[in-house]
Amino acid sequence: MTAPASAGPAVRAIRADLLDFTAAPAWGDASDAAAGVRWRPDHWLLVDAQGLIAAVQREDPGPGVERHDHRGRLLLPGFVDGHVHSPQVPVLASFGTALLDWLDTYTFPSETAWADADHATRGTELFLDALLAHGTTVAAVFPTVHKASAEALFAGAAARGMRVVGGKVLMDRHAPDGLRDTVAQAERDCTDLIARWHGRGRCSYAVTVRFAPTSTPAQLAMAGALCRADPTLHMQTHLAENRDELRWVGGLFPQARSYLAVYDDAGLLHGRSVLAHGIWLDADDRARLAATGAHVAHCPTSNLFLGSGLYDWRAALRAGHATSLASDVGGGTRLCLLPNAAAAYAVQALQGERLTAWVALHAATRGGADALRLGHEIGTLEPGRVADLAVWDWAVGTLDAERQRVARGLHERVFAWMTLADERHLAATWVAGQERHRRTPP
Ligand code: GUN
Ligand code: ZN
Repeated sequence: MTAPASAGPAVRAIRADLLDFTAAPAWGDASDAAAGVRWRPDHWLLVDAQGLIAAVQREDPGPGVERHDHRGRLLLPGFVDGHVHSPQVPVLASFGTALLDWLDTYTFPSETAWADADHATRGTELFLDALLAHGTTVAAVFPTVHKASAEALFAGAAARGMRVVGGKVLMDRHAPDGLRDTVAQAERDCTDLIARWHGRGRCSYAVTVRFAPTSTPAQLAMAGALCRADPTLHMQTHLAENRDELRWVGGLFPQARSYLAVYDDAGLLHGRSVLAHGIWLDADDRARLAATGAHVAHCPTSNLFLGSGLYDWRAALRAGHATSLASDVGGGTRLCLLPNAAAAYAVQALQGERLTAWVALHAATRGGADALRLGHEIGTLEPGRVADLAVWDWAVGTLDAERQRVARGLHERVFAWMTLADERHLAATWVAGQERHRRTPP
């Protein structure tokens, strides 16, 4: 769906403190007036009958619109999760492994259960409702290798009016029985799914390569051919997450200059490519990401939990490729992007850097939307954009209330909120102008 340039007359109005971004804030600028930050306290956001933002104004819209008074709460664009797995809720918080063992011990066995279409549908419904209950309205999602898991994802998103990017996972080797496809079957499944879902409603198809070790060179070539045949497709995969993985890829693809080059050589890098993690990269890799317009989905709770490594966000900025923020559930431990933003701050602190609330929240909203090439539709509170929104409490307990009370200035207040808040602070989530989640009273 392409959002029209201007919106119609308002039918609903939300009153709250509005925060969004007009541009990417500079690294390290924690000032209240940092360029790119748009702060409109106690404003009304008006939504039209098509679910688009009609206007933002200080004045009361008067009678004749459905009024939602969230005075004293924070309203942001719904979060954009750059990388998450719909079938991995059952493997959240699994003890004692790093990436490759974690996949073999927990994740692959759990994903085989999604061969059952009913099971996949139930899991997908739970997952999509959970995204909304955690303030995320848009996500780039990995289901499983099974075609029905992608069907369930698109059907579930369409039923909720959600923008989703996803595709059947490609994996034809180094995975257990029941979790492998073949090049020919995978190509047929992708072609069918693209015909059925790509561009239908708010669904976008992503050619979804699990990671280099689980696809043969023939399958990677097939995936590259799909991308070349339709440049409106996304591509998503994992990249350079863990050092053992890196060594494995080096052995499997000895001719490739680097892990990233495996994807590059197959024609998988372009402006709609999302590469999760991207920790163990060199300067040539980063330059290549920038040149192709591909971006890295940074998954901080996952990287800390699995002990994978520390993402170098500043090197990404210097090289000129974008970074979105991502939960990577179930390697990641929190579906809500606020704890992920707090973890991203810690990841930077461990490298002597300071991640501002502005850079983190921009990545979780406008930055993620732009990186996914969806900035014309979502990510800001601009008239004409789809009203995908989340309304948050500044504080829910005595501790964060006290922290808010003593905060001096806007960045300090927003940074404390970002660091201390989570899904318990979420009051309501809107998708395309409809309230789709509301906190149930305790
Ligand atoms: N690499 C390949 N598959 C996965 C996965 O499911 N999660 C993470 N974090 N890394 C992967
Ligand atoms: Zn992942």
